[in-house]
Amino acid sequence: MFQLPQRDLKKEDIIDILSIKSTEDMEALFREAYRIKEKYIGKIVYYRGLIEFSNICAKNCYYCGIRKDNPHKRYEMTDEEIQEAALFAYENRYGSIVLQSGEREDSVFIEKIIRNLNLIRQKTGGKLGITLCVGEQEEEVYQKFFEAGAHRYLLRIETSSQDFYKTLHPKDHLFERRLSCLKTLKRIGYQTGTGVMIGLPGQTLENLADDLLFFREMDIDMAGMGPYIEHEQTPLYELKNSLETKEERFQMGLKMIALLRIIMKDINIASTTALQTLDPIGREKGLLAGANILMPNITPQQYRGDYLLYQDKPCIGDTKEECKNCLSLRISGIGESIGYNEWGDSRHFYHKKIKH
Ligand code: 5AD
Ligand code: SF4
Ligand code: FES
Repeated sequence: MFQLPQRDLKKEDIIDILSIKSTEDMEALFREAYRIKEKYIGKIVYYRGLIEFSNICAKNCYYCGIRKDNPHKRYEMTDEEIQEAALFAYENRYGSIVLQSGEREDSVFIEKIIRNLNLIRQKTGGKLGITLCVGEQEEEVYQKFFEAGAHRYLLRIETSSQDFYKTLHPKDHLFERRLSCLKTLKRIGYQTGTGVMIGLPGQTLENLADDLLFFREMDIDMAGMGPYIEHEQTPLYELKNSLETKEERFQMGLKMIALLRIIMKDINIASTTALQTLDPIGREKGLLAGANILMPNITPQQYRGDYLLYQDKPCIGDTKEECKNCLSLRISGIGESIGYNEWGDSRHFYHKKIKH
């Protein structure tokens, strides 16, 4: 039966745990991670209303369905639509939102974000927590976003291996820049989140163990990780025959969440939508493996079908009201409660501040 080594996990320990296959051992691992989550965070799930406000992207990541070269319908929500979605989150006591889009660095895009951050702050009296997830930007841009009211930022490193990173991105995406952006975000004072995809073709257990050690080394405040899901209209689809099964990728996703919770006890970890794509109750399973954040989709329904980073994304045909009801039933179903009206900040972020 699985037992956690009574010491700080080393790379070999992590690889051993990632190799666990028996259901019994996996359940013991998830129980242990959940116990830690309960102890450090409580039986509570925090919401981040997710607004996917544009699928226009200037980059060409080999794995992503909205990469620039895809001849795909593009959209950008109007300011009014963004405000309406943000107010929905506020009025429904979600506590926080995430503004997410493809990556762009042009001034029209940057100004739009700043304008909307200011508007949201005015309309909610600064009470709605705001996370940005809009990719790599210059330091002064991150600074302006911060001053306009964004206080958390998510920028996935995608993989912590520089060599592997190169095989997943054309030259428009450099590992060094991504890393330096993460460091800049931390320095500015954002609660900083990162993450990786799990089960990419060619990814090894050693890569995944290194990813977890990278999160610890970077002393991150939040993480969003999910299984890689192939998309037919992407270059990486060519390697689909070398993928692990969906079931294996899903279980690896849960093992990564559990291990991260064991390694970084007080950070925020999202149970991501990609988990639910592979298992109808994937997000609940993510919570029971140690995650504590859910991102209910509040993108207007007419745009959802065009924000397909990967195929078979759930909630495409659903409205924000439907997602709200669906999720609250799912959460009460596993005996957790929702932290309504709370920002649900990363406890780690504040613990770090006190220590330093
Ligand atoms: N499968 C799973 N996750 C993906 N992402 C992009 N494409 C895919 C895919 N095919 C993730 C990346 C990105 C986030 C916004 O979506 O990790 O950072
Ligand atoms: Fe653009 Fe992000 Fe998709 Fe890369 S992962 S193509 S940056 S939306
Ligand atoms: Fe969107 Fe269940 S969360 S329909």
